[in-house]
Amino acid sequence: MEDSIEFILQDQGFKLVHGSKESPILTACTGALLSGLYGIWTMFALPGFSKVPRRLKVPYLPSSKVQTLNAMKLLEGRRGQLADLGSGDGRLVFAASSAGLQCTGFEINPMLLAYARGRARWKSVPTSQANFINKDFWKTDLTKFNNVTVFLAPGVMEVLGEKLLRELPVDAHVIACRFPFPDWPHQASEGGGLDQAWAYDISSVRSALGRTGTLSHT
Ligand SMILES: C[S@@+](CC[C@H](N)C(=O)[O-])C[C@H]1O[C@@H](n2cnc3c(N)ncnc32)[C@H](O)[C@@H]1O
Repeated sequence: MEDSIEFILQDQGFKLVHGSKESPILTACTGALLSGLYGIWTMFALPGFSKVPRRLKVPYLPSSKVQTLNAMKLLEGRRGQLADLGSGDGRLVFAASSAGLQCTGFEINPMLLAYARGRARWKSVPTSQANFINKDFWKTDLTKFNNVTVFLAPGVMEVLGEKLLRELPVDAHVIACRFPFPDWPHQASEGGGLDQAWAYDISSVRSALGRTGTLSHT
């Protein structure tokens, strides 16, 4: 499916270049510049992705402050273990750990991981509160997490939904930033536009879809 952030960005570049009324030379230069910038950006943003299937690749794009605040509002009153799937520079993990959750950020990009770990050391946040693991979350067992946050891409949400429905415990709460899970009834949402976040109660989602988890605790 061609609706990942990567594809959306490429598509934006295409519209910018082809929508221009400038001369063909300027258009060609703009195209070359955009392609070059995109190439450099992907080079630095995508190491470690070679083993992830193409349709499941999601590159780095940081949450805005408002988006993070919206996610935090939806986590109010929650306790226990939180997994941030694709934790980037760790901003959501740091926000959630300061609200009292024991957070684990899974991040495939080693540069972002090193940055987040460095930030945790700098802020003296113990690993029991904010831990960053260099692991592909598609290959990670999520059964111990009763809170999950995601900011990924529209094209991966359905597949991810299947994984979460199979693995999460009955009391799990899932927060999706910017891109909701298709067909999942949400319990609450905060904000609007690009900063919107949705909260889901996994047991209500399972009931609505007539599904059960594959594990004994469901
Ligand atoms: C859109 S960014 C969101 C970053 C961060 N959560 C935030 O809100 O600022 C998605 C992140 O997921 C990471 N990622 C993508 N696929 C992954 C995978 N299979 N396993 C672990 N991390 C992944 C990317 O490297 C990127 O940092």
